[in-house]
Amino acid sequence: MDIKSVFCVFFSPTGSTQTIVQNIAQGMQTEITDVMDCTNRSKRREGLEAIQSNLLIIGVPVYYGRVPQEAAPFLKSLSGRGVPVVLVVTYGNREYKDSLLELHDIAAEQGFIPVAGGAFVAEHSYSLPSRPIAHGRPDANDIAMAQDFGMQIRKEPELFL
Ligand SMILES: Cc1cc2nc3c(=O)[nH]c(=O)nc-3n(C[C@H](O)[C@H](O)[C@H](O)COP(=O)(O)O)c2cc1C
Repeated sequence: MDIKSVFCVFFSPTGSTQTIVQNIAQGMQTEITDVMDCTNRSKRREGLEAIQSNLLIIGVPVYYGRVPQEAAPFLKSLSGRGVPVVLVVTYGNREYKDSLLELHDIAAEQGFIPVAGGAFVAEHSYSLPSRPIAHGRPDANDIAMAQDFGMQIRKEPELFL
């Protein structure tokens, strides 16, 4: 698969998922045709135009080991039309349980072709200075890993297809 351009879609109330998704895309060293931040309800209501890119990245945080209930209906409204998709979850270093599998199943059900997936540690939304949980993540190493993941997908897509 020759990646010509990539489209990023993410739900990211505290920004970590956005950071990871954008760094995966950056690692692919290709054109980023569009970015859709579906965190705001009003944005989700607008829906998604037909996807022009030949690769989509979808990222969500893990809530209670699942795809966030707030994001799932939007994801289930997308029309995949055979577009390859990279699936990403971020989690606060507790556990991601079946969230990546759930995201895979939603994407496949909507007609996307899942080609790769990854779970990345990020600062827990409930982290406090007095009770830090994955404080400062994603750090430089996490960013490098996200970029490397993107680069691997670009270099050797046959490993992922
Ligand atoms: C309601 C809620 C539930 C969460 N549940 C989990 C969980 O089950 N496991 C985990 O490791 N982190 C959990 N987290 C932490 C988030 O997955 C983590 O902070 C994520 O990276 C936030 O992404 P964002 O910065 O893009 O919003 C939860 C956070 C919230 C707000």
